[in-house]
Amino acid sequence: MNQPDTPDAVPAVARSRPIVVAANRLPVMRTDDGWSPSPGGLVRALLPMLRATGGTWVGWSGNPDDAPEPFELDGVDLHPVPISASEVELYYEGFSNDGLWPLYHDALRESTYDSDQWEAYVAVNERFAQALADIAPTDAIVWIHDYQLQLVPKMLREQRCDLTIGFFLHIPFPPYELFARLPWRTEIVEGLLGCDLVGFQRPMGATNFIASAQQLLEVDADDHVVHNADHDTHVGVFPISIDVGDVEATAAGRATRQRMSQIRARLGDPEVILLGVDRLDYTKGIGLRLRAFAALLESGELDPERHVLVQVATPTREAVEHYQDERHEIERLVGAINGRYSRIGLPVIHYLYQTLPFDELIALYRAGDVMLVTPFRDGMNLVAKEYAAAHIDGDGVLVLSEFAGAADELTDAVLVNPHDDRALQEAIVTAVEMHRHERRGRMAGLRDQIRKSDVKGWADRFLAELEATDDPDDPGDTGGAADPTVTALDGS
Ligand code: F6P
Repeated sequence: MNQPDTPDAVPAVARSRPIVVAANRLPVMRTDDGWSPSPGGLVRALLPMLRATGGTWVGWSGNPDDAPEPFELDGVDLHPVPISASEVELYYEGFSNDGLWPLYHDALRESTYDSDQWEAYVAVNERFAQALADIAPTDAIVWIHDYQLQLVPKMLREQRCDLTIGFFLHIPFPPYELFARLPWRTEIVEGLLGCDLVGFQRPMGATNFIASAQQLLEVDADDHVVHNADHDTHVGVFPISIDVGDVEATAAGRATRQRMSQIRARLGDPEVILLGVDRLDYTKGIGLRLRAFAALLESGELDPERHVLVQVATPTREAVEHYQDERHEIERLVGAINGRYSRIGLPVIHYLYQTLPFDELIALYRAGDVMLVTPFRDGMNLVAKEYAAAHIDGDGVLVLSEFAGAADELTDAVLVNPHDDRALQEAIVTAVEMHRHERRGRMAGLRDQIRKSDVKGWADRFLAELEATDDPDDPGDTGGAADPTVTALDGS
């Protein structure tokens, strides 16, 4: 919330047309002193723009049965959408996070397909669509976010054909072979086709979505536009990023430098600090990483006197059974590995099941010599980008799964297939032993890349392309067809 509202921070489209954002969660959390901004890149990207244009954000407060009146914070209108305790169970924990989430992440866990959960998902999506229909100014741009709200675009278009509607999926969109398992697959695709523009993190997500639309609805489509009866839906690739300036500024602060030295000292001044920072989610591959670390200690390729692992696992979706199982497994592994390799006062794995403040995370990134980001599947993975942005010293090595969206851009990381045990172990050893010259060269490449694609540029590009779908000179769409060179599926 403390971003300067410089004209540069505001996408051109936001200056000419009102913008309404909808996401499952509001960008604020209740605290003892009222409301304060939530952490997270999306909030930092979009709030300055909404603040500068008097924009609106529609979302849930994060608390069951909580229905505060709309309020304004720092020039942004916030419209809470109430979600009851039973809907939290059915719509959020159930359909969204026990049905869609595993299915969209390569079906890494069994999904629950339950008609009561589906009905709650429909009801909550209707409530969001109604709230948007009621409050969006005439001709506004509406930007809907993520898998919890995939039905909203169609529901909203049916009520408000004056609006220009965009949707961005933050997680992967699965191949049709997996998506086809979903009993309500047609309704989901129809929901998204209510948009003028649907955005994905990676080219594969866009390709999968178009293939699903063709299979299920026999719509006419090319590689970037689906032609519906009454409008076109453009499809594009917009890899999300981070607020690089914010991370760099925090990383450069004196407090961060002091904290970084303190962390190193507290860890016993090891030669190499390996670091993992993840929500405690089974998609993140935390267990694999721990097993690879243990195998290397066992083989002697890593040495507990010289190499220490810090694993931050942020609590998330704790009511969902797959998450409880994952936590038990990780904590069992941490206990077993520490039991075998730690020394008095010097655990070989420092495990924090906590939500750390942003400043502390940045200090940890700076202290980390080798960052391990090893998800089985991840929409983007902003931790990988934050690590590189925080390394203003130009040093540090990123080990990155090929299955994270970030791998498309961060090609100077040590890229690895985390399903391959030995390859993961070798990648860790390569990172730990990498010569300073190569480390610095790779880190310079990573930092150049993330500087080129800041989160503000991401929002600007999405909104500009969304507005371009309204071009009246463009044939083939009641709203207009985008320039294919602009919404190419080969990413940014
Ligand atoms: O990555 C998808 C996402 O929904 C993010 O937008 C969010 O930060 C994270 O997962 C956690 O989501 P939640 O706590 O709302 O379930």
